[in-house]
Amino acid sequence: MKRNNYVVANWKMNGLTSFVKIFNAINKHLVSKKLNNPNVIVCPPYTLINTLVSSKKSKVMIGAQDTHELDSGAYTGCVSSEMINDLGAKYVIIGHSERRQLFGEDVELLSKKILSAHKHGLKVIFCIGELESEIKNRKSILMKQLKSLPKKLDHKKLIIAYEPVWAIGTGLTPTLLEIDSIHASIRDILKFNQSFAKNVSILYGGSVNAENANNILSLENVDGALVGGASLKPRDFSKIIDYFS
Ligand code: PGA
Repeated sequence: MKRNNYVVANWKMNGLTSFVKIFNAINKHLVSKKLNNPNVIVCPPYTLINTLVSSKKSKVMIGAQDTHELDSGAYTGCVSSEMINDLGAKYVIIGHSERRQLFGEDVELLSKKILSAHKHGLKVIFCIGELESEIKNRKSILMKQLKSLPKKLDHKKLIIAYEPVWAIGTGLTPTLLEIDSIHASIRDILKFNQSFAKNVSILYGGSVNAENANNILSLENVDGALVGGASLKPRDFSKIIDYFS
């Protein structure tokens, strides 16, 4: 079964106007190698979306890192899915562990955010993953987090990213065997919708780098990577992309 492959860059709160050159280097790599697989998505801070979307001859798709659950109103500092879509971005990350932990985002709120993204035509990269202290209860934690998903599941609108919280930015990762079996068990949890479970792309995230990506991305149940730190180094990020080509 051939699912869509994705390599997603999560720039987090990094992205001065000078970072456009990182984007250009990634794009140049895709253009020069005529790469059509994987799909490459860069998620910069909101402030760079417009610039990156306007970049000519780009093969890179653009996403936001979060959205508000409502369309508009008196919510100082917030950005809605309608606004993200208006800028021309096609994707949005929802449920990143930093949002869950630092901003207290819970299952109910994230479910509203997904609905709002879909309402405004954005494809969702939905992050799930356990804390180190939750490793023993991983399956039930993931099941609970997956409850944010809408009833109508469509693999063309939703990508899942499994990111163990203890692996993010730490240089640690689960073993290859563990990653593969956790991804299989996520598919198993979603089996109530057979076609979605079969077709949905499940990405791995958490300390993916140019050295470990080859092994991780060749796992049967891994359909791509969500990359933080290494996505700001164009050479490393390009290497990660190349493992799919
Ligand atoms: P990392 O971050 O690649 O730096 O571990 C991944 C993420 O937070 O999405």
